[in-house]
This record gives sequence, structure tokens and C-alpha cells, in this order.
Amino acid sequence: MDFAQQLKSQIDIVDVVSEKVRLKRVGASPRYMGLCPFHTEKTGSFSVHQGLQIYKCFGCGVFGDVFKFVMEMENITFYETLTLLAERYGIPMPKRTDMADRDSRLREAVYRMHEIALAHFRSLLLSAQGADSRQYLAGRGVSMEIAEQFGLGLSDRGNTLTQKLQREGFPTDVLEDSGLIMRRQEGGGFFDRFRGRLMFTIHNESGKVVGFAGRAMAKGDEPKYMNSPETCIYKKSHLLYNLHRAKDAARKNGRFVLVEGYMDVIGLASAGIQESVASCGTSLTSGQVKLMKRFADQVTVNFDPDAAGARGAEKSLQALLDEHARVRVLELDKDLDPDEYIKQFGVELYQQLLQRAPNYYFWLADQARKRFDHRTAEGRMQALQFLLPAIQRIPDKIERAGVAGDLAAYLGVERGLVLEQFKKAALDKREYRLQQPAVAVKSVERILLSAALLHPDLREELMPRLAAAPGVSEFRSYAIFQAMIALYGNLPAFAYSDLDARLDESARDLLSRLVFADEQHEADNLEDVRKDAMSCLQTLEKGEREARMTQLRQEIAEAQRRDDQQRVMELAAELDRLKPVKQIRRNPNAKM
Ligand code: UTP
Ligand code: MN
Repeated sequence: MDFAQQLKSQIDIVDVVSEKVRLKRVGASPRYMGLCPFHTEKTGSFSVHQGLQIYKCFGCGVFGDVFKFVMEMENITFYETLTLLAERYGIPMPKRTDMADRDSRLREAVYRMHEIALAHFRSLLLSAQGADSRQYLAGRGVSMEIAEQFGLGLSDRGNTLTQKLQREGFPTDVLEDSGLIMRRQEGGGFFDRFRGRLMFTIHNESGKVVGFAGRAMAKGDEPKYMNSPETCIYKKSHLLYNLHRAKDAARKNGRFVLVEGYMDVIGLASAGIQESVASCGTSLTSGQVKLMKRFADQVTVNFDPDAAGARGAEKSLQALLDEHARVRVLELDKDLDPDEYIKQFGVELYQQLLQRAPNYYFWLADQARKRFDHRTAEGRMQALQFLLPAIQRIPDKIERAGVAGDLAAYLGVERGLVLEQFKKAALDKREYRLQQPAVAVKSVERILLSAALLHPDLREELMPRLAAAPGVSEFRSYAIFQAMIALYGNLPAFAYSDLDARLDESARDLLSRLVFADEQHEADNLEDVRKDAMSCLQTLEKGEREARMTQLRQEIAEAQRRDDQQRVMELAAELDRLKPVKQIRRNPNAKM
């Protein structure tokens, strides 16, 4: 066990988080909830799981273990976090040089692997294998010059990157830590994470390659974009796509254009708008906003108009407002994203729209006007109610009053009315509800998952039966079970983080939702957990038996139609074997 693990086993995440957040325990469960310290909220969606020693916010999506919590909270490095916690809990630290050397050697190796990977993806795009992709790019108006500038490339379906990196002599654990290579769940050995995808290179602020995103090119390849996982050099919440190139233009123009997609950034840059950035497949975090604010105060947000875009957009907008960025919102009509819009209507028109994009609060007021009839007093009042929460989130008193006044004028509402509404709302501001994440997963899945995950003692009994029960493959959380069963084979004492590391983004999200989901009844002693899990398994196994019996009956009927007596006999014999043995019950009324 290395020092970090040793330290982790001696501290409780609930204690550490409690120093910053008022946590309430959820019933008698190992879960706690409170107001998220990473974003502004009135309803608590920040959860801590004592059994698993992790936290997750269902509002802004932050997630991690006790180290990550302290790192993000205090904005310090991993090493500093270890020192801080070791000191606080009186646990002696090993010498700095040993650890720091190991960390920085690993980082150096991972940077080098990314350089090798980029060269590899580039040459594949230029090779004969890349013909289709080059044609695809040309069709989307991306010249080979732009492709070169942005580090576009191609991954193939062999494991050529794995082989290349192995030939270069990178040790096994470093291969995995790079995020470029994955370990096979069965058998052993490694394979390329990115397969048959158009590759986008992700740089950090200083222009070093730290990750990739791969766009599916073949029909049926899911997900559409696959992104590098977090690694020692790639921290998603502190990084923006294209920042290293956009920052100078942003400083000069006093603004960023924030878009959703890699292709949007590339489209804007090719059209001469250099100050555009995107987050890499997540909604914006306060860390990313702080990053932008070092270069420009104003951010014009131009997200896709589709529904998914709108939800992510709301979170991102909130992060911007929380950090006091001056936000403008550009909405394009005709359901086009920025890249498509420029292709259709030209960059001049787009530039004009950018210049005219309304300030966030006026944009919101426009939404309110569309929704409510501002010709009637009642409609204007409703519009005001709609805007009030946003206005109230403005932390600065004077700014808040200013915006409120402007909006009142814009909507044609009397100023006095606005003030009155404010006073009313201020009264119930302190109260908040706790929010439980909703998951549409059967409770068998949840009970079995948490039994196996939370209670290593039960694994020996549970895992083989889970592996054998075909019903498991019908689970919505099948990917999680599959990974867990494979993981158990290599590492029977696996922890949450080991499982988490083996999942793709959607399964990872589901897993965290499942472990934090509210159970109707939650067993807290091992024997009850065991009983619940076993009865779930029995139901599963019985379910299968009954399904098989139905199938056999149908086959028997068919065989009878064909007059295939031989087959009928065989099937009937199997059916007999499956029938439960009748229990001999005593008649309750009979005399003893
Ligand atoms: P879009 O689906 O709008 O893609 O997702 P796009 O960038 O416009 O690409 P084209 O034009 O269809 O080729 C927007 C962004 O959301 C993230 C990516 O960052 C993407 O650029 N995303 C999308 C993912 O991370 N995963 C996905 O499966 C889909
Ligand atoms: Mn697009």
C-alpha cells in the first residue's frame, strides 16, 4: 500500500467534508447531504457516501474522493493535500523527494506518450487509411492546413498505438495511467482506447498535448465523442479546448466566444474568430470560468439550440454568473450550431450577431416576454417572478439593484413592485430542501450492486452467482456488473475507484447515481444485507427458470405440430426437471 492509500484508510471523508459543509445524514444510511461548496445552490444536491468514501454533486457534477475534495476546495496540489491531511491527522509523511520524483517522472512519461500518440494519429490521417477521413474533413470545409494546426488525426482499429508505446518501453502501469491504453477485462493485455475515430487533440494552457477526443466515423459506433479520462496531466474541470490559441485574441478583443463543440471551435477559427473555446464534453466549472477571466471579462455564449444543449447551457451559464463574468447570449435560429451557421450564412453575418448578442439578463427577459403576455399587468408580474431567482443570485447588492431596475424598465414593471418582491423572497431564502437523485433502475440491481460494492466479505458468495445469472445481462446497469465481475477476477478486494476507473462516462455516471440513490429500506448490518442480496439472486434465478419453462412449452407445441415425437419427449423431460419440487403442506385444519 502506498502512502496515499494508507493515509486514506485512516481518515473519514465525512469528517473532512464536514469542516466545510453542513452535512445531514440521510436516515440511517451511510449517505450524507448538504449544500454544494463548488457551486451556488439553494437545494442540497451534494452527497457524501461514508461507506464508499466518495462525494458527488448532482447539481454541478463534481465527484471524487477525500483527496480530490481537499485539492479542489483549497486549490492545492495532490502532494500538498497529502501533507495537509497527514499533519492534521498526525500521520508521519515519507520524505518528499521520493514521492515528488515519482510523480514528476510519471507526468513526464505521460506527456511524452501523448506526443507519440499525436504523431501516430497524424500520420494515420495522412496515410492511405486516412482517405475517407480526409474526404470527410474536406466535405466539412476543414483544410489540411487547419487539420495540421489543430492536431487532427485518425485512430485505427488495430492496437497500433499500444504496440508503439510498448516498443518504446513504457512500463505497464504507466501505459494505463496515460489514459490512452486500456487493460482488457478478460485475459490480460492492453488495447487502444480510441479505435477508428477522427481524433481531436486537447492541449493545456501552455500548449502541451494532454488528451484527445475521438469522433465516431462508422455507423453504430457509440458514443459519438469519446474523450480521454482524467489523468495526471488532464484535469477536465481546469481546462478548455483551444485556450492556448484563443487566449491572446481574447485578451485583445476583451471577450471569449464559448461554444459547445470541437467542430464549432475549428469552424470559428477557420473563419477568423480566434477567441473561441469549448469545454470538453462537460458543463462549465468555476475553475474553467476563472481561467477565462484571467484573459477577458466578457464571455459570449453560443450553444446549440437543441434540448440537451439547453440543459447543459443552464449549468454553464450559472457557473459564469457565479464567477461574475459579463455574459452575453447568442442564439442562432434555424437550429444551427455555430459551425453550420457560418458555413450557410457566412462569417460576416455571424460577426454581426455576435456584436448584437444581448446581455444575459436581457436575454432572459426576452425569454420571459415570449412566455408571458407583457401587455397585461398579470403577465408582467409573472415575467418578473420568472426573472427574480436569477436577479437574486447576483451577489453584489448594488449590481443587483441596478439589474433589477433595468429589467423592471425593460418589462414595463414599476420599480416599487420589484423591491416588494425582493423583500418577500428574502424571507424564505435560508430554507433549502435536500434533493435526491432519481434513478430508473430496478431495486434488484441496486441491492446487488451495493452489497457487492460495500461489503467485500460478501463477494466470495455473490460474485460467482452474479457471473452465472444470465438475467444480469438484462440489467440497465449491466456494464457496471460486467466490469465488476471482471475486476473481481483480478482484484478481489477492489475499491470504488478501481471500478469507476474501468467504466465509460455514462456507466460511471449511473454508478454514482446508484450508490447515492435513496433506498426504500436500507439494511445496515451485514447479515440483513446478505439476506436481501440472496433473495434478489433467487428471484433472478427463478425468473430465468420460468422464462425457460415458457419457452419450452412453446417449443413442445411446435414439435407436436410437426409431429416430432422424439423432440417432444426431450423437451418435456427438460421441462420436468425445471419444475419446482412440490412442497408438502400440512392442512392447517387437520388434527395433530
Ligand atoms: P455535438 O454532438 O454538437 O458535436 O456535441 P459537434 O462538435 O458539433 O460535432 P459534429 O459537428 O457533429 O461533428 C458537442 C460537444 O459535446 C461533447 C463534445 O465535446 C462535442 O464537441 N460530446 C458530444 C461528448 O463529449 N460526447 C458525445 O457523445 C457527444
Ligand atoms: Mn456540429
